[in-house]
Amino acid sequence: MTRHGAGRRGAGRTPPGPPRRALPGLLKKLATDRLALMRDAAELGDAVRVAMGPKTLYVFNHPEHAKHVLADNSANYHKGIGLVEARRALGDGLLTSDGERWRAQRRTIQPVFQHKRIVEQAGVVAEEAAKLVARLRAHEGGGPVDVVRELTGLTLGVLGHTLLDADLTAHASVAHDFEAVQDQAMFEMVSQGLVPMWVPLPHQLRFRHARRRLREVVDRLVAERTGRPGGGADGDDALSRLIASTRSDAAGAGRQRLHDELVTLLLAGHETTASTLGWTFHLLDRHPEARDRVREEAVAVLGDRGPRFEDLQRLTYTTTVVQEAMRLYPPVWILPRRAQGADDVGGWAVPPGSDVLICPYTLHRHPAFWDAPERFDPDRFGPGSGGDRPRYAYLPFGAGPRFCVGSNLGMMEAVFVTAAVVRELTLSTPPGHRVIPEPMLSLRVRGGLPMTVRAAA
Ligand code: HEM
Repeated sequence: MTRHGAGRRGAGRTPPGPPRRALPGLLKKLATDRLALMRDAAELGDAVRVAMGPKTLYVFNHPEHAKHVLADNSANYHKGIGLVEARRALGDGLLTSDGERWRAQRRTIQPVFQHKRIVEQAGVVAEEAAKLVARLRAHEGGGPVDVVRELTGLTLGVLGHTLLDADLTAHASVAHDFEAVQDQAMFEMVSQGLVPMWVPLPHQLRFRHARRRLREVVDRLVAERTGRPGGGADGDDALSRLIASTRSDAAGAGRQRLHDELVTLLLAGHETTASTLGWTFHLLDRHPEARDRVREEAVAVLGDRGPRFEDLQRLTYTTTVVQEAMRLYPPVWILPRRAQGADDVGGWAVPPGSDVLICPYTLHRHPAFWDAPERFDPDRFGPGSGGDRPRYAYLPFGAGPRFCVGSNLGMMEAVFVTAAVVRELTLSTPPGHRVIPEPMLSLRVRGGLPMTVRAAA
């Protein structure tokens, strides 16, 4: 196969596609192995055009292309394939909306993630990390525990306290219900939104129940907040700001918008952070020398107390481990966009209405920008390293105006929890267990991540 790099340009040329005989294989992979599909596309070149039935995908795998689509000419791109269909499950929240509606939502939510608020939230993260360590410790010396499930409890706990001033873990079904929403969103992607929601497929039924229960939880949280003196709209957490911003909507529309925004924020914030941590623990299990360095750093910086905001800049090696985990396993493995008008991406013609894909998973393993890209090497993010790497070769939090609104909270959580857990415990995958990435809305571990727990040596 030939490679077509960003350097081989011609004004407005059509990107090359796979040979016709490769198409059946690609279609099969679209349904069964989407990461392999992306790897195949990257093998063909940095700009590839794949016609699949009624859809034509333009897959770009070069930092300059990513910069153009996500940042420089982002006004020409709306959210694309998959996310458009996922809207049927997620509603029209910050992640899936576009245009003026998105801008207004972003203005409402952004202040919740200001630096001063993140500093205040460090204590919540430290507390939830300590609870996680205690929960894991209960399995010490016993059989494997599903670490991803435990991490999901942790990340939901953090979001509940930071965004809503509520204990979400008290609502037993919430984690399970979000899983059903995520499954439905994925089904909507794969089926291109062609199956009506009333068709009684088991996962659609599960989704409908989950949606009803989540709506009840949201209604209860809102009722509890609006019952407070001042009507609940005068605080500065996400719930207060959303209540204030939906006040002037008609009753039904306001409730719907509040629901969509909260479900979106909670889903976008907890899955991604749990996935980052799951992959981090998996990689540290595979690389005991890195685990020992994290442990030494955690003991040196934290001693035996919980982390505080100021520790973040001293947990430097732990930070590089999390960055490297997000390079190899970016939780948001694909950034889908739809071109509104015609465009020229690095010399390649993109017609209006095209589906454009930027894939952090392949970009983060591009051999032109990463030495030994398959190797786990946190030091590539260490002081003095990576200075010659293009900025858009690494996109764990996206880029441009749609850059992750919760990146600072997510990063602080991942670093603190890694340090707090590794300081006290050693997590190990049972022999023979295969850990397989599963690209859903986020890059999950197929079937969970069973690990045994023992006290740190
Ligand atoms: C390590 C953890 C996280 C990762 C890797 C991550 C990754 C991303 C990425 C790549 C995007 C851009 C999607 C796109 O351009 O299509 C995004 C958007 C978003 N993230 Fe995160 N995220 C993380 C944590 C969080 C947290 C903690 C929250 C907050 C609750 C959050 C809320 C959101 C929201 C609401 C958006 C949509 C922003 C917009 O379109 O304006 N994320 N995230």
